[in-house]
Parts: sequence; C-alpha cells; structure tokens
Amino acid sequence: MKKIAVMGSGNGSNFEAIVKYFAQKPEMGVDITCLSDNVNAYILERAKNLGIKYKYLPFEQNCAYFAVNNFDLIVLAGYMRILPDDVLNLGKFINIHPSLLPAFKGKDAIYRAYEAGVKVSGVTVHHVTSELDGGKIIAQYPVLIGNLTHFDEFEKEIHNVEHKLYPIVIEKLLKDDVFDFNDLLGGCSGTCEGGCGGCH
Ligand code: GRF
Repeated sequence: MKKIAVMGSGNGSNFEAIVKYFAQKPEMGVDITCLSDNVNAYILERAKNLGIKYKYLPFEQNCAYFAVNNFDLIVLAGYMRILPDDVLNLGKFINIHPSLLPAFKGKDAIYRAYEAGVKVSGVTVHHVTSELDGGKIIAQYPVLIGNLTHFDEFEKEIHNVEHKLYPIVIEKLLKDDVFDFNDLLGGCSGTCEGGCGGCH
C-alpha cells in the first residue's frame, strides 16, 4: 500500500485524472488523500464526488499536519502557494507545470508561452523546492504549436498531456522507476497505418 497526498487550490482536474488512473490499477493499492488550502476549491468537491478522503488544510497548518501524517509522495496539482523548507523537509514533494521549464515559470505559463510565439511548449513534472517552479526536472513532454493553432486548442492539449503524464510519473516514482517517452506514446492512436508494427 502506497500513500499519496494531492494538494491543490482550485479546479482539481489533475487530481481527478490521478484518482481515475489509480482506480484502474487496484493491484497497486494507492491510497489517496486530497488536501486544499482553499475551503471553496472545486478540488474538494471532486474528492467528495469521487469518494476520496479530503481535508481543508490551511497553509499555516502544513507543518503540523505533515509532521504526523506520512506519505510516500506529496503531489502538488495547482497548489498556489510556495511551500517553505520546513514543510518540504517533511516529505517528497513533486509539482506539475504547464510549460517546458525552466521557460515560463510562474502564473499564466500557457498564455505567456503562446503569446511569445514559441513553437514547442509542453508540460514538466519536477521536484519542489522553495524556489518557484525551480526544483530538478523529473519528466517533460512536448506540445507543438503550429502557425494555425488557436490558443484554446493549445491550452486543451497542454491539459490533455498533463492528465496523461502526471499519473504515469507518479506511478513510476512510487515504483522507484523512471519516466520514458515511450510510457506516454505506448497507446497506439491507430493513425500509423501499421507502420508502428504494434496493433495492426
Ligand atoms: C495545471 O495547469 C498545472 O500545471 C498548474 O496548475 C493547473 C492546475 O489545474 N500547476 P487543475 O487544478 O489540476 O485543473
């Protein structure tokens, strides 16, 4: 049995993707707790609807909470505060960010990347330090921006990649394994017309 906490301040779509992924892998026995520093966050509503343990955890109470609650991994997913070292020292924290770090750290990364005209952006999962989006990178996956790509399409694709990448990386970390691009490319889209030699 592995215990993880998912911490978020808002929407919680990554949290839901993580819950649904591990629901398909009962043999792994991943026990999930949802934590939010925002009592009104939709992530708490999602947890309630999904039947996952949840708790409103004010920022100031993080230290006391993690001092007595041990997790194999603490997963930040849209958590909007910088955690200080005294909290980070109490567990292994990872975060997901919607750009190819170290480019576009901080808020509105998807929009800023698009406005800058970059042709390749993507998603990064990284270790958490007290420096904003600054910890060592664990996994990245690219999203291409064509000349005709609309912002909404790009944003949607970033979130699609997040929802696929984050659960896989979490599983890898829980198994002391490493992420490889093929882990995400594994499912055949059926568009290769037999060229991949896999599913046809
Ligand atoms: C995601 O885009 C994540 O990369 C960023 O915050 C957003 C959280 O979205 N850190 P959600 O709350 O998981 O829907």
